Amino acid sequence: MKHEVVEKNIGLMMVLIIVAISFGALVELVPLIFGKEVREPIEGLKPLSALELEGRDIYVREGCNVCHSQMIRPLRAETERYGHFSVAGEFVYDHPFLWGSKRTGPDLARVGGRYSDDWHRAHLYNPRDLVPQSNMPAFPWLFDRDINGDRTGGKMAALRAVGVPYTDADIEGAAAAVAGKKEIDAVVAYLQQLGTLIQRRR
Ligand code: HEC
Repeated sequence: MKHEVVEKNIGLMMVLIIVAISFGALVELVPLIFGKEVREPIEGLKPLSALELEGRDIYVREGCNVCHSQMIRPLRAETERYGHFSVAGEFVYDHPFLWGSKRTGPDLARVGGRYSDDWHRAHLYNPRDLVPQSNMPAFPWLFDRDINGDRTGGKMAALRAVGVPYTDADIEGAAAAVAGKKEIDAVVAYLQQLGTLIQRRR
């Protein structure tokens, strides 16, 4: 039996396993590396503004992404609840991705425009004031803390190095754009643009 040769020779088996796994990986990866629709931004996609970018960093710092995914799967139950499923071209300027899979709270991929700014502010100050059964933590300190714009331009320059099309003017104006803002302003600005390029409800 030819198969017996493979099963009794661990060296040969290892080589063949590597070949099999590599083949599987290539089949998955190559179309992603060369596929246009996964690398090109969807029409109208703009890099985050200075304030939104600071909001995103606070979102990560506070661990919002630990409870909230940003990835609507193409399943009826998801699109009925959250809107159009997420497409790759929406995320080309996202570094790192915040897709996640843990949903203690609802998916936020298209939360932009769903509520007013005031709703978000009240909700982040104390979720229970608006959603009595909520187990989301309160984030009252966001209302007290100022944004430090010293590093905003530097963050944008770093993102530009990995392909996000910030202009020199964006980078130079970054500190001024966030001056005098509180952290809550940045988080709400970030939330309000999420997923708005594609319609929320079909
Ligand atoms: C411990 C888990 C947890 C964390 C951390 C968390 N949330 Fe939530 N979030 C929830 C739950 C549960 C809900 C649903 C109940 C509610 O609306 O309060 C929710 C709801 C929301 C909603 C309303 C979504 C909708 O479609 O109705 C927004 C917006 C939101 N969270 C933003 C945030 C932001 C911003 C942060 C970080 C500053 C954050 N959450 C951190 C659990 C969490």
